[in-house]
Amino acid sequence: MRKQLVAGNWKMNKTLEEGLDLIQSVFDKLDEHPNGPVVFGTPYPFLQAAAKRIKSREGFYLAAQNCHHEDKGAYTGEVSVDMLASVGVDYVIIGHSERRQYFHETNAQLAQKVNLALAKGLLPIFCCGEPLDIREQGTHVEYVADQLKASLFHLPESDFRKIVIAYEPIWAIGTGKTASTAQAQEMHAALRNLLAGKYGQSVADDTTILYGGSCNAQNAAELFSQPDVDGGLIGGASLKADDFVAIIQAMG
Ligand code: 13P
Repeated sequence: MRKQLVAGNWKMNKTLEEGLDLIQSVFDKLDEHPNGPVVFGTPYPFLQAAAKRIKSREGFYLAAQNCHHEDKGAYTGEVSVDMLASVGVDYVIIGHSERRQYFHETNAQLAQKVNLALAKGLLPIFCCGEPLDIREQGTHVEYVADQLKASLFHLPESDFRKIVIAYEPIWAIGTGKTASTAQAQEMHAALRNLLAGKYGQSVADDTTILYGGSCNAQNAAELFSQPDVDGGLIGGASLKADDFVAIIQAMG
């Protein structure tokens, strides 16, 4: 059975105090148990304090927004998967388009990150998505399929079952231009089909595939109602408690 999930990606926003307040406000505003795991993707410096808050509430989990692709060593300023695990992180976002674009992360490095995360017991939220020109050429499905093949398809089935996929079309991120429900459903169904071909129907059916890109309190329910959309990876709207709570509640 696949699970629904909503994850917030705060990106490089908020101070520690603002972040902890946001988590508390989300808890205060939600009187019902969420229908799937809710993940807060906080900046590195807040992880340890956020872990303390989040562990007190059932159904809530903590994500880092990145990790380094090497296990340990002389990488000044970087953060290893072991470090994340040691402060109570559950999930790690890997391959966000901003990391691919601004930090030139390669498919091969992302595969290394996925391997390390799984080896240390963290659950990867693996991001994929096409830029606008690829969408306009009509080759978006092949483009995103290639991202999955390059960074995930070396995994054995038992490991692949721990992966959450987040489809985030780059042209929809932070632009207010959400993919239509049809565009989201088309890609999610195509990815599930790809997974069925590689790992079999049961793995495909069980894999959680999130949508991300200008998902907000107004459009979340419609997006999540699509048969192959299992929740969202939320940027801007995860920074406001009311909006994030509405998105959590959109998990049917
Ligand atoms: P927005 O929700 O701000 O478009 O960002 C989406 C995203 O990149 C989440 O990882």
